[in-house]
Amino acid sequence: MDRQLLACIRTFGCQMNERDTETIQGLLAQEGYRFTTDIKEAQLILFNTCCVRENPERKVYGQVEMLRGAKADNPELIIGICGCMPQQKEELTEMLERLTHVDLIFGTHNIHRLPELLHRIKTTGERVVEILDESGEPVEGLPAHRESDFKAWVTVMHGCNNFCSYCIVPYVRGREHSRLPKEILREAKSLADEGIKEITLLGQNVNSYGQDLRLGMDFADLLSELNQVPGIERIRFTTSHPKDISDKLILQLARLEKVCEHLHLPVQAGSDHVLKRMNRGYNREYYLQLVDKVRYHVPDISLTTDIMVGFPGETDADFADTLSLVEEIRYDSAFTFIYSPRKGTPATKMPDQVPEEVKKERIYQLIEVQNKISLELNQRLCGEELEVLVEGTSKHDAHFLSGKTRTAKTVAFPGSQDLVGQLVSVRITEAKTWSLVGEIV
Ligand code: SAH
Ligand code: SF4
Ligand code: F3S
Repeated sequence: MDRQLLACIRTFGCQMNERDTETIQGLLAQEGYRFTTDIKEAQLILFNTCCVRENPERKVYGQVEMLRGAKADNPELIIGICGCMPQQKEELTEMLERLTHVDLIFGTHNIHRLPELLHRIKTTGERVVEILDESGEPVEGLPAHRESDFKAWVTVMHGCNNFCSYCIVPYVRGREHSRLPKEILREAKSLADEGIKEITLLGQNVNSYGQDLRLGMDFADLLSELNQVPGIERIRFTTSHPKDISDKLILQLARLEKVCEHLHLPVQAGSDHVLKRMNRGYNREYYLQLVDKVRYHVPDISLTTDIMVGFPGETDADFADTLSLVEEIRYDSAFTFIYSPRKGTPATKMPDQVPEEVKKERIYQLIEVQNKISLELNQRLCGEELEVLVEGTSKHDAHFLSGKTRTAKTVAFPGSQDLVGQLVSVRITEAKTWSLVGEIV
């Protein structure tokens, strides 16, 4: 019998990459691979990379560098790099020069070609590099190897057209391409047949879904259709760009019972001066009014956001505007980032880059303000009964289950393992900054 082929995939970055890893694993499973998290026992090691900030890039170089010895000991070991990093031309050149022990490099637009690329390496023993600049129409019908039996990601669109001045994503993921509604619905139905209860719709800017298809169908319409798929109990989506949220979408959020009461609405900054230079396409006033409108229609909605500090030219006064916006809106939680210059983006060349110490100082201040608000909002939930989808046992204590509310909050509570994958009602007894504790009702 053939020795079992084992692959180890390390995934960096956003849900797009996580979803791509599922496809990669689906393709590899068809080639006879099984999966391991132990890099030492794998015959194929793949890094699905992210380049949105410098940090994840540096990690990949470090981890790949460490495999040099393993490759020398075992020439049959295949080491590959895929995802967003090699989509940047300069980065690819650097990788090819520095990481001479890497056998395979491919990008975000040609994942479906993986089996053929692997075959080529195995037959020729040569290094294979294939990167496409543009995606073209989404490739449908690829297999996926999913981690969870009851929740799943569903990509609704690829790419981004927004070109925020700091962001590399449009350069590495190409222009917006929506998947056809019938393909998305087919996928949702087959997921439901497999027992999936919760789907999260993915796109860099889901609110512009459908614009490129010209079928007269927008994201709000897509939500209505998905809301009717039997078996699917919860629908989430990310990410929403504030400039493209329509009134129709807000009404659907309020009306459609399966669509969860959670909106991730990245603001990035609270100062008009900064927002303008970021090319975000909205100002503070517009954003605040948008949040008012959303809260008017969905009063208990949980709001989360992305915020960046240290964008070029951000003054103390600009940063104070970000803090005051955070205090005014009172987000349930926020992902906070230090601005990281990305080669090829306009912001990299802007004057008045903010010194590292100032950036650090600002992010600490921001996190402190946000943590206080997160805790206060969570404390208000004590005593309430919330619906929780049980996702697994708690990392810290096997007698505790862990799951998420419709508002995307993590709850831990005592319970038996056979509830995993079920929707249960939990009374909240204790609030922490990032999570809740409760008991099953
Ligand atoms: N499409 C999503 C964001 C994808 S990137 C949106 O527009 O909301 C996720 C987050 O990374 C962004 O919201 C932003 O806050 C952060 N980010 C992007 N580029 C960055 C950079 N160069 N430096 C620091 N943070 C960055
Ligand atoms: Fe990047 Fe802006 Fe596109 Fe989001 S909307 S992926 S931040 S360019
Ligand atoms: Fe990173 Fe690519 Fe996502 S750059 S944030 S993995 S789209």
